[in-house]
Amino acid sequence: MSRPFHFRALACALLAVAAACSGNDPAPTPTAPQTPATWHKDVAPLMQQKCGTCHVEGGIAPFALQTYADAFAHRAAIRSAVQARTMPPWPPAADCSTYQQDRSLNDTQVALLTRWVDEGAAEGNPAEAPAPVAPTGGLSRVDVRLEMADAYLPQQSPDDYRCFLIDWPETRTRYITGFRADPGNRATVHHVIAFLAQPDEAAAYQALDDASAGPGYTCFGGPGGPDATRATWLGGWAPGTLGQDFPEDTGLRIEPGSKVILQVHYNDHGQRAGSDRTAVAFKVDDTVRKVAIVQPWANPGWPRGTVPMPIPAGSADTSHLWSQELTPFASFITGGVFQNGVPVTIHSAALHMHTRGTRTRAEIQRASGARECLLDIPHWDFHWQGSYYLQKPVQLWNGDRLNVECHWDNSAPGATDRSWGEGTDDEMCLGVFYLTQ
Ligand code: HEC
Repeated sequence: MSRPFHFRALACALLAVAAACSGNDPAPTPTAPQTPATWHKDVAPLMQQKCGTCHVEGGIAPFALQTYADAFAHRAAIRSAVQARTMPPWPPAADCSTYQQDRSLNDTQVALLTRWVDEGAAEGNPAEAPAPVAPTGGLSRVDVRLEMADAYLPQQSPDDYRCFLIDWPETRTRYITGFRADPGNRATVHHVIAFLAQPDEAAAYQALDDASAGPGYTCFGGPGGPDATRATWLGGWAPGTLGQDFPEDTGLRIEPGSKVILQVHYNDHGQRAGSDRTAVAFKVDDTVRKVAIVQPWANPGWPRGTVPMPIPAGSADTSHLWSQELTPFASFITGGVFQNGVPVTIHSAALHMHTRGTRTRAEIQRASGARECLLDIPHWDFHWQGSYYLQKPVQLWNGDRLNVECHWDNSAPGATDRSWGEGTDDEMCLGVFYLTQ
């Protein structure tokens, strides 16, 4: 699928590379060579926008890309990483759908960075630097900010997965209308997922915390509570994301007596330790026009153990599919908060597997048989999970199914049979969707 026009227009405006923005422009001729690309004029603005959230001093990336000297030193690696499209990390397939805050590079931008390196990676003139572009996204307002009670020093290296409980402080029913995580130690916090423990589940989570020494408790695939299919996601954060307001006039209902569970994945690259005190920021409103739910989408029999999800040892490609009509099922699991017979709108999509996952896809299967891709992760990487807000939310009517398909490679030497579970040796196959009616 080709990108919408405004991406091109934006890229042209940003990069001011006339020849790359074809359209009505005459093709360059041998007598009119392109002006060589320079750091100040072309590359720095693009790298600030597309690389700067991670490649900063103290950031999650192994080196900064803030100055000309930084970029020059890494120019060969930059060229190959953008050519291979491994950088910036952006797992969704480009031909599936379009998302807000897409940080991937378009073809023009890849060509520009490649050309800059090939031409010798010139510095250029600082006076030619365009005005900085403000980053898009982020929370428009912070109403409630909750910080981990105590600092935590990761105990396992390189990866430590830990859940921390924080009391929800509000004393009346309110609606969460935006989410952002503020990692305490950007060099080690790799991702943060905020889950909601309903008032009637809070004690069970507290018991998990009490049973574990030090702040929080170990948790890997989910928050580890009594029922994985009830663990509502309030929001997810991975390096490079700024958080965002939820779709206008929609929000997640939150009751007094709830707890917020922060699942933090620490990754210290085997070297950079240091303690962390992460916080989460919420935009909160008293009313919303439409109550949203964040719906985990998996066969409910998998976590309950009533339907097996076998991933046999030795198999290089095992797949499982969960396909179900969304509208009646959403009505059933919300106890009628969502009504059967009324269309459901999907605003965002996320997919979740563990470390043996290879690819996963969420799509709509219309009553007519037509299929529409929502999110396709062709090369699953457990370290780069995210929630993707659709540029255009989609509606599902009765008869339309929502399908989630997962693939795993369990053929490594010494592999053992796997199935659904929360541990590092278990797997999951889960879609997570932000829905309204
Ligand atoms: C979302 C965070 C993030 C963004 C945005 C990002 N990077 Fe990275 N980058 C990383 C991390 C983390 C690593 C370390 C390797 C890994 O974990 O995949 C890395 C590694 C690299 C490497 C070394 C790769 C290698 O193969 O050794 C290069 C080069 C690089 N990034 C260039 C870029 C460029 C250029 C951009 C922008 C166009 C960019 N990155 C955007 C996080 C990011």
